[in-house]
Formats: sequence, structure tokens, C-alpha cells
Amino acid sequence: MPRRLIIAIDGPSGAGKSTLGRMLARELNLLYIDTGSMYRAVALAVLESSVSSIDDVAVGSLAARVSIDLRGEPESMEVTLEGRDVTEAIRSDEVTRLSSIISAIPQVRRAMVERQREMGKRGGVLNGRDIGTVVFPDADVKFFLTALPQERAQRRFVEERVQDPDAEFEETFVDMTARDRRDSTRSDSPLRIPEDAVVIDSTGVSIDEVFATMIAVVREKTRRGLAILGDG
Ligand code: DC
Repeated sequence: MPRRLIIAIDGPSGAGKSTLGRMLARELNLLYIDTGSMYRAVALAVLESSVSSIDDVAVGSLAARVSIDLRGEPESMEVTLEGRDVTEAIRSDEVTRLSSIISAIPQVRRAMVERQREMGKRGGVLNGRDIGTVVFPDADVKFFLTALPQERAQRRFVEERVQDPDAEFEETFVDMTARDRRDSTRSDSPLRIPEDAVVIDSTGVSIDEVFATMIAVVREKTRRGLAILGDG
């Protein structure tokens, strides 16, 4: 039996990875694995524990032992931490900021990468920062999604305004830029473009157009292996 398809989507925040990852997983009948939510769940576990977020060894060991699960359909994926639904809780500003800090700790990365490889064994659409470079360097299709920082921040801001009508664009922009800098400059598995990735800049392009481009790339790359697509 052929191995199921692995699609890697990497890129900075606000580039459209989640929306497009979900759409691709749905269209291709693949598992959707949002690896960022796993780092977020670790950050939440740290905040809820007595572990200091600057104690790398303690954070690393917490990451290795907490139970994190991703369940459900791509559009309604539920994230659980020790069996508790934390889908909403991991989207807070505090968790967002801390997830970028603790994801630079090598022991945390090692623990997450191991789980992600296990989860993706039967194929899937995985999105994150190091999927095509570290987690699945031999992924069948690799995308690197990006857009100008102003536009990425604007997308985040629109989402944030739904939660908090007093949100300020400037703050979203500054936070996002700081996170992207951290994610791209850390020494372990920094965000970078995989050599063999298809780079898509979605600045000024609609989600549907980007989706059409991505599907065309997947179909083209799997032309000779269509049996592994959409067979449930
Ligand atoms: O994609 P996101 O914003 O939900 O990710 C949260 C943080 O986790 C982000 O700052 C970068 C980090 N991350 C990572 O280092 N590696 C991944 N594969 C996914 C996310």
C-alpha cells in the first residue's frame, strides 16, 4: 500500500497556513495537523503549572510528559491538554507570546517533533515553521506561504477585533513582528524556506486563488500517484 500523502505548509504568522491547511485537508481527505497549537498547549501547561517559563530544563520536561491531542474535523479541530478542551484557551495573547518563547527550547521541539512524526505517519497536511525542513524533510509537497507583514498583521487584527473590540492594530503589528523575529532567528529549527518548497506570496491575493494554486501544485506533484489521494 502506498504511503499516504504528506503536505508541509510552513510560513510566518498570518500567512494563511491554517485556513489553507484546513481547506487542503478537507479537499484531499487528509488529516489536518496544526503543529502551532501543540506549542501553544505546552505554553498553556507552563502558565498553569508552577514551572518557571525561563527554566528550559523544567519546561522541556513538562513538554515531554503532558498529553496533547488534536481531534475532529479540519474546520472544527479540538485541542486537548490532559484531556481538557483548550481550543479557546490557547488563543489568548499570553499563550501566543509564550508559545513563541518556549518553542525555541530544543527539548520542547524534540518532544513535539516526535509526536508530530507519529501523528503524520498515515499522511496529513501539517502546518508550522519547521515541517518541510525538520519534521518531514521528505514530505511529498512543501509549501512556504508568506505575505507582506502589514497584510499579515491586518489579517490577525481582524480576528483579534472579534474577540476584543478595543484591540489596536499597532499592538498586533509589533507583537507579530517580534514573534516572527524570534521564530526566524532561534538556533534550533528556525523558520526558513525549505529548499524544495513552492513559495506563495498571498499579498493581495484571495484565499480561493491561493487554494486553487496549491491544489494545482499538489495534483501536478502527485500525478503519477493519484491512488493515494482522496481514498479516505
Ligand atoms: O502557528 P502558531 O502561531 O499557532 O504557532 C505558535 C508558536 O509556535 C509560534 O510562535 C511559532 C511556534 N511554532 C514552532 O516553533 N514550530 C512549529 N512547527 C509551529 C509553531
